[in-house]
Amino acid sequence: MIVAIDGPAASGKGTLARKLARHFGLNYLDTGLLYRAVGALVLAQGKDASDTVMATRAAKALTPADLDRGDLRSEAAAIAASKVAAIPQVRAALLAFQQDFAAMPPGAVLDGRDIGTVVCPMADAKIFLLASPEVRAQRRVKELQARGEEVIYSAVLSDLRARDERDSGRSTAPLKPASDAICLDTDNLNAEMVFKIAVETIGEQIAANRRRGT
Ligand code: CDP
Repeated sequence: MIVAIDGPAASGKGTLARKLARHFGLNYLDTGLLYRAVGALVLAQGKDASDTVMATRAAKALTPADLDRGDLRSEAAAIAASKVAAIPQVRAALLAFQQDFAAMPPGAVLDGRDIGTVVCPMADAKIFLLASPEVRAQRRVKELQARGEEVIYSAVLSDLRARDERDSGRSTAPLKPASDAICLDTDNLNAEMVFKIAVETIGEQIAANRRRGT
């Protein structure tokens, strides 16, 4: 069983995907962490995250230990991630790892931007989370403050808008719902409500697949 959770920054993908993985007894992969790690590796070499050669080299050499770096959740890593994520060679280098992870028994929940469209187009269930930039910026501010980072709401909001634009505007695997994804607007829903609706939606998608014989 493969569940794809996609959506823009701070839409609640990670929170939902982790809960779903626990609920269904599946593995969980936060694919954003791969792009964050590549971005952080390039920055650590003193280079710009848009440097195609350095970013591609970092993506090809990525090891599981790189995902344990302590600085991957920072805003700097997020911005670097969205820059390396626009490089087609970086995406190509990370694709097999994600697909192999999804194929491992008993299955997985993956969250990202292109899981339903590119990484796992045959996923059993696909959910695309939406929320307004303002609500997402408030959520991200709370999250970063809880980590002890000093943040300014207006700066977080403008970083988030810039990242949305880069993620949606890139030519390779842009952020967009798969044609068969269920879109869920979470502006007025808390994490528990989103989880409940998602579990129902996944059940319905799986039942519909069975009826179609897919
Ligand atoms: O948690 P948040 O949504 O802010 O970020 P994330 O999911 O960790 O992703 C960081 C960046 O990686 C995004 O802005 C995307 O540019 C990129 N990304 C991607 O292109 N494809 C994915 N499957 C996951 C992340």
